[in-house]
Amino acid sequence: MTAPILRRLADLRALHADWIRAGETVGVVPTMGALHAGHLSLVEAACAECDRVVVTIFVNPKQFNNPEDLANYPRTELEDAEKLSGFDVDVIYVPDPDQIYPEGYATTVTVEGLTDVMEGRFRPGHFDGVSTVVAKLFLQTGAHKAYFGQKDYQQLMVVKRMARDLDIPIEVIGCPTVREASGLAMSSRNLRLSQEALDKAARLYAEMQAIAAGLQQGEALADLVERASARLLQAGFSEIEYLELASATDLKPLDRPTEAARLCAAAWMDGIRLIDNIEIPALN
Ligand code: PAF
Repeated sequence: MTAPILRRLADLRALHADWIRAGETVGVVPTMGALHAGHLSLVEAACAECDRVVVTIFVNPKQFNNPEDLANYPRTELEDAEKLSGFDVDVIYVPDPDQIYPEGYATTVTVEGLTDVMEGRFRPGHFDGVSTVVAKLFLQTGAHKAYFGQKDYQQLMVVKRMARDLDIPIEVIGCPTVREASGLAMSSRNLRLSQEALDKAARLYAEMQAIAAGLQQGEALADLVERASARLLQAGFSEIEYLELASATDLKPLDRPTEAARLCAAAWMDGIRLIDNIEIPALN
């Protein structure tokens, strides 16, 4: 059954009050729509663990540092609702813009430190937009648990820190990245790539795995990254913004996996910016 779409905060709050009165747990899956199997895996986890599930769809203008990216971001509300009909979702919250940023809106949530590196370096203002909208969605939905994909690993860390620092009583849960058979991480932006570009884009994951294997054998990160970058450029990527190893706990840059780490990448294929990351276990 298709869940009702609510566009006004007051309507969501009214339902939420009933749920809380009944002692039910509420899960939220925040999205910007253009749902793919990665999002649906978050919805599945939320449905398995919570009595009530709210999926939010809001293309948040404040987190786009590039106006063209915002204008071209896929908007597929009907298809999204259809995809969610296969799950036990209670409400699809698609707030009207004034429900998130009413006239005179003046507050920004900034997480320091974690946002200085990687995405934060290449997308100025992006994480302020994410932290601000996610704080609002947490408070508006009053959810007990929130589900995010590990594909946006830095976002997951930033959101966890924001909720902790602001004492928002919510558990932030990271779920594994869902990949195409080719290994390409699922992303709404993949919708904008041709089949040929999608095939080439899969090379990013393969090269990241090659770096992971080299690290396990004690090879130097800088050499591995240099060789992988050259192969990616040859395979059709136009630019590698970063390909770096970061601590899995505080994202500080590492040149060896002396602790649990993530290998993180951002690269451009056919005018589309793709990101990915994989787990790198600590080397003893
Ligand atoms: O990951 C996303 O789709 C967005 O950054 C989020 C968390 C929904 C906030 O707009």
